[in-house]
Amino acid sequence: MAIAIGTDKSTRMARVFHVLWHGERIAYDAAARQALICGDIKAKRFLSMQSAQESRHAALFHAATAVLTPRIRSLQTPAVAALNAYRRHLDHDLAAGHLATSIVGLQIVLEGLGALTLSRINLALSPHGPRFAPFKRLLEQHEDSHHAFGRRWLERQDIESLPRLAAEAYRYFELACSAIDGSEELFGYGVSTPQIFRLHLRAALPSTLTRDWP
Ligand SMILES: [Fe+2]
Ligand SMILES: [Fe+2]
Repeated sequence: MAIAIGTDKSTRMARVFHVLWHGERIAYDAAARQALICGDIKAKRFLSMQSAQESRHAALFHAATAVLTPRIRSLQTPAVAALNAYRRHLDHDLAAGHLATSIVGLQIVLEGLGALTLSRINLALSPHGPRFAPFKRLLEQHEDSHHAFGRRWLERQDIESLPRLAAEAYRYFELACSAIDGSEELFGYGVSTPQIFRLHLRAALPSTLTRDWP
C-alpha cells in the first residue's frame, strides 16, 4: 500500500525526502568507514562503491527536497533525531572495529528500512513526484545490491557468532523502530501505520537474525 503524502503534498513529500537524505548520509559515512576496516579486497571494493553511490543518493535527496520546498532544509524532525541516535550506535561499532555488527546495522537493518520506505512512496501523489520516478528506480536497484551484500556477508559468518549478531540486530531494529515511530511524515492518513511498518521491517530481516537462539 502506498504512503499518502497529505494535503500539502509537495511539502509532505519533501519531509520524507529530508529524512531519506539523513539516512543516505549515514550510509555514505558508514560504508566509507567499513571499507577502511575491511580486510577482504573484494568486499572493500564493494563498500567503497557503495559509499560513492550513497553520496550521490544523499545529493539527490538534498536537491529534491530543495526543489519541493526550500524551507525544509534545516528541519530537525523526530525521525531525524532518531536517525542521529542510529548513527551514534553505528559509529560506536565502527570505532570498535566491529565490521560484522556494522554490516548488520547498515546493510541489513538500515537498508531494509530505506527499501521499505522507498517502496511505499507513491510519487504520483505530488504534482512534482513523477519527475523523481527514474531516480527512484535507480536507487531501488542500488539499495537492493547493498542489502544483498549484507545478506551474503551474514551467510558466511560462523554459526557461533550468529546469536550475538542476532542480539545486535535486535538493538538496531529497536533504533529503526524509533525512527519509524518518529516519522509522522509517512503516516497519519490511515493508509499505513508504524505498527505495520515495524512488522514489514522485521519480516524483511534474515531469519537467522530473528529466530530465538538458545
Ligand atoms: Fe542509498
Ligand atoms: Fe544503500
